[in-house]
Amino acid sequence: MKVKPYEKVSAIYDFMMEKLDYVSWSNYILEVAEDYIKKDAVILELGSGSCKIAGYFSCKYKNYFATDISISMLKSSDNNSFKKICCDMTKLPFKIKFDFIFSNFDCINYILKQKHLLQMFTEVSHLLKKDGVFTFDVSLERNSLNFVKSKSIEGNFNGYYFQRVSQYNKLSRIHSNHFYIKDKSGMEFRETHKEKIYKIDTYFKVADKAGFQIDACYDCFTFKDINPKSERAQFIMRKIN
Ligand SMILES: C[S@@+](CC[C@H](N)C(=O)[O-])C[C@H]1O[C@@H](n2cnc3c(N)ncnc32)[C@H](O)[C@@H]1O
Repeated sequence: MKVKPYEKVSAIYDFMMEKLDYVSWSNYILEVAEDYIKKDAVILELGSGSCKIAGYFSCKYKNYFATDISISMLKSSDNNSFKKICCDMTKLPFKIKFDFIFSNFDCINYILKQKHLLQMFTEVSHLLKKDGVFTFDVSLERNSLNFVKSKSIEGNFNGYYFQRVSQYNKLSRIHSNHFYIKDKSGMEFRETHKEKIYKIDTYFKVADKAGFQIDACYDCFTFKDINPKSERAQFIMRKIN
């Protein structure tokens, strides 16, 4: 049976990511935040997934809103010390304004059309307070090319068997992850996750259109500018008022 992205993957996501160092990733974004915001800042996270970063970040910043388009992903977290809202980052349902909006781990790549990327940037810009900051990472082509070398993984967790096969189409610049999942009862599920690997210039162009000033575009996890070997870029943008 074909299901929506992350509907079943949510059951195995934390297991698949168990080697990922979320503490360091949170500390990196916290370091970015500390340059711009105070303790009482209002924070919005886009694509929070199973709320790993939210768990660490909200210890320091209490006015914290975690969002994701997948209700299954949000529900897979049992941390209820911050607000969780299921919504699409291209259609944000908020009336309040934020000091700091961020996203991590390729969420932005899930926006497959440039017009929707602009729509999301514009929404974010409207929701930021004066001098508000938007920071996010994006996966770059080098990451996709390296990732598909390993192509396939499989495993068992909590009664689920899963297999992930990755493909990258250089022409369309679409990176696809195909998941095959079988549950305890033998039910089979298929999910396809697609990411658009935009050229880095596209982000600069779209950010400019949405009224952002780009403060930095780092080689992700560092404070050095991106370079041709970068697999992931970290953008830091400010709203031009
Ligand atoms: C690779 S996961 C990253 C999750 C989390 N940030 C982490 O570090 O583990 C990508 C997440 O983006 C979410 N996502 C994809 N498209 C979205 C959209 N348009 N609006 C909000 N969330 C979205 C997915 O549901 C998924 O939870």
